[in-house]
Amino acid sequence: MTDPRRRAAGVGRATMSVMDPIAQRKQDHIAVSLSAAADFRHVRTGFDDYSFIHQALPELDLDAIDLSTTFLGHRLRAPFLIASMTGGVDKGAVINRNLAIAAQRLGLAMGLGSQRITVTHPGTLGSFQVRDLAPDVPLFGNLGAVQLNDGFGPDEVRQLVSSVGADGLFLHLNPLQEAVQPEGDRNFAGLQAKIAALCAGVPFPILAKETGCGLAGDTAAVLVAAGVSALDLSGAGGTSWSRIEGARHAAGDGENLGEVFGEWGIPTAISLRLVRETCPHIPVIASGGLRDGIAAAKAIALGADLVSLAKPLLAPALESPEAVVRAIETWLQQLRVAMFCIGAGSIAALKATTRLVTR
Ligand SMILES: Cc1cc2nc3c(=O)[nH]c(=O)nc-3n(C[C@H](O)[C@H](O)[C@H](O)COP(=O)(O)O)c2cc1C
Repeated sequence: MTDPRRRAAGVGRATMSVMDPIAQRKQDHIAVSLSAAADFRHVRTGFDDYSFIHQALPELDLDAIDLSTTFLGHRLRAPFLIASMTGGVDKGAVINRNLAIAAQRLGLAMGLGSQRITVTHPGTLGSFQVRDLAPDVPLFGNLGAVQLNDGFGPDEVRQLVSSVGADGLFLHLNPLQEAVQPEGDRNFAGLQAKIAALCAGVPFPILAKETGCGLAGDTAAVLVAAGVSALDLSGAGGTSWSRIEGARHAAGDGENLGEVFGEWGIPTAISLRLVRETCPHIPVIASGGLRDGIAAAKAIALGADLVSLAKPLLAPALESPEAVVRAIETWLQQLRVAMFCIGAGSIAALKATTRLVTR
């Protein structure tokens, strides 16, 4: 019998008649991510533990607040990255296209989902090719770091990046997701040296990201020593990949590891503080459960250079580019109002604010 949560999320109901296991998995991830089954239930990001001291006399014009910033040499109209999500399936192509159009209209950065499927299934490459729709945005490819133990090295990564016209590549670290996935890749041994060789062997930036469990200070220091150009914390409190894998797990076929580890991870705000203690200078993207512009403002005040969202953009991305633009603009207006109410007229001023306190 099928688990009711899997049924509710549409898990296992592939639209194609015969579906390859990787494509089926990607389709399941989208279906579960659209439901509450993908969320942390108890662990919070930690941003609620901080408040801004309100400024009743901001001495600013709200409409003149400047959100623009630079990231890895790219000028952005706001400190925002559309997080890596998908590709490789029909819905993934729609999602990537709509996200790319929105990124171009808003002048933001964008990540693509894991491109491994394009090597095993070259016919899926088109679902990642959005450069024509987003000629001016910083665009980043994506690959699991564990794939460095499965034949991927600098040559293969160069090929992945050039196949989508990207400016660099996110290497994702997802040991928990792989561990709880029955078909997961489990050999994470020896990756530090391979990450260092990759960073030294390609002419574009390699960025390291978690996928919802956060980066610790010591991990960040190792990655920076290996040569990565930026870190995306992707901490706990938003999307729980362990829960997503748990929801894909058929009822009654043994212990559901994904559910057991559903609350595992370093809350995003704590991860940000730990990473900034060991790595004060590396560009940092805060992500994982940022659900409004106030949390984004707090993340930047705590030392993030960019903020990033994944799951909240999924449903708008299935709808239209306009829906994505609306969702992000709402969020950016919240960021702008938070900056206004603490008297920070620019991202530099927000980073330097002394008005963020612990509750
Ligand atoms: C449907 C979906 C697919 C994702 N696929 C990838 C992926 O292929 N590679 C990756 O690095 N992260 C992937 N992520 C993780 C996100 O980039 C992000 O790190 C994580 O979801 C936390 O952000 P959130 O709480 O805003 O969702 C995916 C997230 C979602 C919701």
